[in-house]
Amino acid sequence: MRSEFKNEAFVNFKEEQSNVEYDAALKKAEAELGKEYPLIIGGERIMTDRKVASLNPANKKQTIGIVSQADTDLAEKAIQTAAATFETWKRTDPGERARYLFRAAAILRRRKHEFSALMTFEAGKTRIEADVETAEAIDFLEFYGREMQRLSQPQPLTVSEEEENELYYIPLGVGVVIPPWNFPLAIMAGMTSAALVTGNTVVLKPASTTPVIAAKFMALLEEVGLPPGVVNFLPGPGGQVGDYLVDHPLTRFISFTGSRDVGLRINERAAKTHPGQKWIKRVVAEMGGKDAIVVDKEADLDLAADTITLSAFGFSGQKCSACSRVIVHEDVYDIVLEKVVERASQLVMSNPADVSANLGPVIDEKAYAKILEYIEIGKQEGRLVLGGGTGDSNGFFIEPTIFADVDSRARISQEEIFGPVVAFTKAKSFDEALDFANNTDYGLTGAVISRNGANLEKARREFFVGNLYFNRKCTGALVGTHPFGGFNMSGTDSKAGGRDYLLLFTQAKLVSDRF
Ligand code: SER
Repeated sequence: MRSEFKNEAFVNFKEEQSNVEYDAALKKAEAELGKEYPLIIGGERIMTDRKVASLNPANKKQTIGIVSQADTDLAEKAIQTAAATFETWKRTDPGERARYLFRAAAILRRRKHEFSALMTFEAGKTRIEADVETAEAIDFLEFYGREMQRLSQPQPLTVSEEEENELYYIPLGVGVVIPPWNFPLAIMAGMTSAALVTGNTVVLKPASTTPVIAAKFMALLEEVGLPPGVVNFLPGPGGQVGDYLVDHPLTRFISFTGSRDVGLRINERAAKTHPGQKWIKRVVAEMGGKDAIVVDKEADLDLAADTITLSAFGFSGQKCSACSRVIVHEDVYDIVLEKVVERASQLVMSNPADVSANLGPVIDEKAYAKILEYIEIGKQEGRLVLGGGTGDSNGFFIEPTIFADVDSRARISQEEIFGPVVAFTKAKSFDEALDFANNTDYGLTGAVISRNGANLEKARREFFVGNLYFNRKCTGALVGTHPFGGFNMSGTDSKAGGRDYLLLFTQAKLVSDRF
């Protein structure tokens, strides 16, 4: 058995040596940019005529990689390959399946900076953000490997005198895995490894803005000896290839992380039964958030300002867990606003490869345009107190932006912006602040900054989110420590990095044997 699970430590970038090593990794990664990446189906590498270039969001002229794109014929081939491979993979010893994850984790740990540096280029992550993400990917592999070991042990049942009863968690079948671009390594690796370690086979359709990191993970799975066809790498356009995979009668489940619109579309399409389909498809979806930090009048206001700044502007607010609403008791509203403006104005927005960068670009042109549109809406709905502008036009840079005096029902308080934009709302009482916080369609993360124990107890009962944090930031859930996932329009109530998660990719079979 493996040792008890522990979260991977983060690299300390206050140490000069870590930066020297990271800079060397950046250099090496940069030298390898621009390669061509094929699809991989059953181990076969397939280059297609249709290719898409993945670009550096901090420098649009830099190509990260040129990635072949699937069409529906290749999607069909991927599903058929996954279905055929399932017949052998489902019988593989769960211990063996777990070991592939442990091997991958060990290599990832040894070559951490290599993966992180690529994320700096392809996703625009600062070194700290990229390192935290690589640590999370290692955690998912280590955690789900152990979870599979646990689930493959005899499961507790009521003992019968006359029978021997056993319950087995068996796999579902072919899974379509559609991960997001904002955690292009960690969430992608977590979703993929959870599906495969439970004995399913996978068609992995990477996010279209971050396919090269996914290709690198795919290479890692090959390096550890994962049999061909267990994971099939299928970049392609969402509308055409994504729909085809979701609709396919051999698809048994879809594991999706991304926007609410796409999640709902997948859920609807998956509900339709197609000829030849023998099951009800399962959808595991993690979608958006409109996460609030509530600041009570009795609170450490410096802590409040620190946590708001980190939660709102870390990775330019491009996390479903990011704080996009701050709801403050009127007695301390002005002070908290001032402190956050002061901190946020000191954030350094620059190329994420720079050691001094606190904030990089947003992911692409589409996101850039959408966020700027919301900033215009914000100007109508509130008072712009910081930012609102853009940076170096070689990349998609948007300044940390703060709007004050925003109504809790305003569009920028209700709609997911997914950028470095935060709205401040004043509340007359703690109860009103909680009402405002709950007044969205989402329910992913939330935080309360308070020294009042009774108010914290009230929030514990009534703040309706999947991940509720007191006196700390609302981002940065750790695998195993903070199982992650939300309520309502934030998804299907799954908890990534939690002890229920692998069950979503299995079905339980009971065998009762009367001798
Ligand atoms: N798990 C991440 C966080 O907690 C978001 O996906 O920030």
